[in-house]
Parts: sequence; C-alpha cells; structure tokens
Amino acid sequence: MAPACRLGLLLAVLLPMGGATTPGTVVRLNKAVLSYVSDLGRVPLQRALQVTVPHFLDRRGEELQPTRVQILNVQVPRLHLKFIADFGVRLLAAANFTFKVFRVPEPLELVLPVVLLADARVAQGSIGTPVVSISSCFSLFNNAIVLSGGHSTTPALLVRLQQHVRAVLRNKLCLSVSNLVQGLNVHLGTLIGLKPVGPESQIRYFMITAPSITDDYISLDVNAVLFLLGKPIVLPVDATPFLLPEQVGTSGAMATVGLSQDLFDSALLLLQKAGALNLDITGQLKSDYNPLNTSVLGQLIPEVARQFPEPMPVVLKVQLGGTPVVTLHPNNATLQLQPFVEVLAVASNSAFHSLFSFHVVVNLRLQLSVSKAKLQGTTSVLGEVQLFVDSSNVGFIDVDQVQALMGAVFEKPLLDHLNALLGIGVALPNVVNLRYVTPEILVQEGYVVISSGLLYQH
Ligand SMILES: *[C@@H]1O[C@H](CO)[C@@H](O)[C@H](O)[C@H]1NC(C)=O
Ligand SMILES: *[C@@H]1O[C@H](CO)[C@@H](O)[C@H](O)[C@H]1NC(C)=O
Ligand SMILES: *[C@@H]1O[C@H](CO)[C@@H](O)[C@H](O)[C@H]1NC(C)=O
Repeated sequence: MAPACRLGLLLAVLLPMGGATTPGTVVRLNKAVLSYVSDLGRVPLQRALQVTVPHFLDRRGEELQPTRVQILNVQVPRLHLKFIADFGVRLLAAANFTFKVFRVPEPLELVLPVVLLADARVAQGSIGTPVVSISSCFSLFNNAIVLSGGHSTTPALLVRLQQHVRAVLRNKLCLSVSNLVQGLNVHLGTLIGLKPVGPESQIRYFMITAPSITDDYISLDVNAVLFLLGKPIVLPVDATPFLLPEQVGTSGAMATVGLSQDLFDSALLLLQKAGALNLDITGQLKSDYNPLNTSVLGQLIPEVARQFPEPMPVVLKVQLGGTPVVTLHPNNATLQLQPFVEVLAVASNSAFHSLFSFHVVVNLRLQLSVSKAKLQGTTSVLGEVQLFVDSSNVGFIDVDQVQALMGAVFEKPLLDHLNALLGIGVALPNVVNLRYVTPEILVQEGYVVISSGLLYQH
C-alpha cells in the first residue's frame, strides 16, 4: 500500500492540474487477447490451485484417525475468458485435482473434477492503473473418480472424504484466484512507469477514466505526460479528448492502439524544447560532409569573395525555433520543419563571421514503425525545400542561386540528425515484459492506429 500511496502523491505533484488535458491514446484490447491470456494463464493457475489440504479425520470404529491428504496434481485443460460488457471479465476453468489420501494399509488416489467460475471487475485505480478484482467466485464439484486403493474404502467414507475436500477447496480456490489477480495488478501497475524518450526527457502513461467494456473489447483511455528535466510539457493549446472510432484497425488483432495528433505534437514539442532538433553542420575544407567553403559561395555572392580571398570553411548553425508540425492524413503522415540557418565563415584567426541567415520550409514524409514497444519514425524530403533570406552581411543574395547549394549542404545532415532522433522512438503504452509483435500502422485523419499482436516474455 505504501509504495502505491507514494506514487499517487508523486503523480499528483507531477501531473498538470486544473483540468488541463494531456495527449490522449486509446488502448483497446480485443477478444484475441483473452485467448492469449488464457493460454498464458493456465500454468500459473494450475500452480495457484495446488493448495494444501488439512488432515482428514478418518473414523476407525470409535477412533478418529487423522489422515494426511495431498493434492498431487492439478490439471486445467480448459481455461476460458470472456468480456462482460460494462463490467470486466468472466473466467471459467475446468480442472482435475488428483488427490492422495494416506490411509493405512493402502493409500487412496482419486480425481476430483472441479469447475471454477469467477467474475472479475476491471476498474481504474486511484493512481491511473487498471485494477482487476474478483467480485464473485465459486466452484462446482463433480463426483470424484477413484484411481487406486478403492478396495479398502466404503461409499460412506468416500462421501465424507469428498465433503472434507470440497469444503477446503470451496474456500481456498477463490482465495488463490484472488491472489493470482493481485499479482496481475502489480504487473498492470507498471503501465504508469516512467520511460525514457531522450537523455533528459521521459514519458508516462496513465488511465484517465474507467475502462469501457463491451462483449468484444476493453478500451482504456490512457493519456501521456511528457517530461523534460522532470517537468511536464504542457501543450500550448487545449487538447481535445481523443476518441478512437469503433471500427478501426485490423480485425482479429489483439490490441488496437490509437495515438492522437496531440501525442505527436507533444513529442515534437519535447524534442524541440530539449534542443534536440538543433544541429551544427561544421565546416572543414575538402570535406564530403560539408562541401561548402567561401570560394564556392564567393562565386555566387561577390562580397564573400571580396571578404575572403583565401578559401575558408563555412559552418551552418541549424536551429528550430518553431515546433515542427505533424499532419496526419489517410495513409499520409507529413512533418513540416522551419529551421533557421545561420551561415558563418571561419576566419583565419578561427573567429566566426556571420555571412547571412535564412529560414527554410522543409516538408518531410514521415514513415512510422513499431519496434518492441516503441514508435519510431523515418523521414524523407517531400518536394522542394523553400529558402527565405532573413539577414545578410554580404549584400544582395540571389535566393534562386543559393537555394540549390544550401539545400544540398544542409538536407542530408538534417535528415540524418532527424532520423537518428526519431529512431530512438517514443515508448508506447505497455507493461513490463510486454512487447508489440507484427504491428500494422494505419495513418488516419488526425490520428494513427496500430493493430498489433502482443507478446509477453518472462
Ligand atoms: C478429468 O479426469 C477424468 C478422468 O481421468 C477425465 O475423464 C476428464 O475428461 C478430465 N476432465 C478434464 C476437465 O480434464
Ligand atoms: C571548396 O569547395 C569546392 C566545392 O566543393 C571544392 O571543389 C574545393 O576544392 C574547395 N576548396 C578548398 C580549398 O577546400
Ligand atoms: C500527403 O498530404 C500532403 C498534404 O495534404 C499532400 O501534399 C501530399 O501530396 C500527400 N502525399 C501523398 C503521397 O498522398
């Protein structure tokens, strides 16, 4: 309880207050997840159901003989989970308990078939995690089948023995299921873990409302808070709540994850505020990376040739003042950058001389991909790079002439830089040890949908 309280307090401090909305995502877990969870859950359930049984008092004439009873094995060949609309999940398990009764002279072995039914409510916890709780649970018992040692037992003894075992199991099995669910809750709680985005930036997801549950899925409104140096980044505009349409994504996928435009805007705002989008294109003579020098520029701008009769390296300082803009259209994600570029010449005394500055409008195609539990991006230039001169210390500049040269020098380093950054990726909503597999990404008007399988790795 104590760590949860501390986390709650921490979240209360860190989250932007006063109804400010945070970038929305929706995580919809479909029926396919339940089949996966029931496959995964069979073995842990078998283990959890292997409870201890107190001694059975065997009546021998006048005497009561305490007799040890042990569960040798629990088999759960069938575990079925289904959604219950507006409530949670129903569990139905058919189990066979193999018992050994240590009677003298001959031990008795029997199999008791049990059907376990439990309803679990899925709700929103106080600290923004999903919380599962068992609201009703009961076991149905079939008649035991004697495997061995039946010769020395009477039907009356079998009846009493079964009564004993049933009374024990009736209490203990549901307790075991509850404990298993508590373990699951601890795991689900890792949803709100802080995940790194860059060196000084992080992301944290948390549930903002109770889940909405239908017969087909459970849908969680999970918002993100992005942090720079421990402080939440708040979008300048009031974000509107994000709703994921009913019929989106690949049918049959375990998870359908919707990412709002706001999430992209915030992630880019974070990168920009962190200064991560700025870069210096350094100049060296005879460099492939930056082939620019004052003698090349001097051919286009006579004043440069006059000021620098000897060829000198040229440095480009690229800065993003404005936040990049992502536009999401069906099957088409684009990114627009408006970098401000200062062109400096390195004088013979190693001092920098500002030659001129310009800003550019660059449109990029944004290709999204998912790796493990991260959303990554790659960009490529879309169309012409437009250049606008802002200031000049070298007189008139013919934009048309300079444009091609500048584009060539600064495009590749900018793309390399951007792609390295977007390649780091932003963590998607997930819990520890869970990753997205065979994801399909669909760009829609104003949002992105990921249809994906999930893989849990212990
Ligand atoms: C339980 O065991 C009995 C006897 O071996 C078998 O007939 C029955 O199919 C088993 N039930 C389940 C649910 O495995
Ligand atoms: C200046 O740049 C041009 C074009 O890249 C190149 O051919 C020339 O060798 C460079 N001069 C020096 C001194 O680096
Ligand atoms: C993507 O959208 C932009 C902006 O609407 C448009 O200019 C561009 O042609 C589109 N590209 C494709 C491949 O549809």
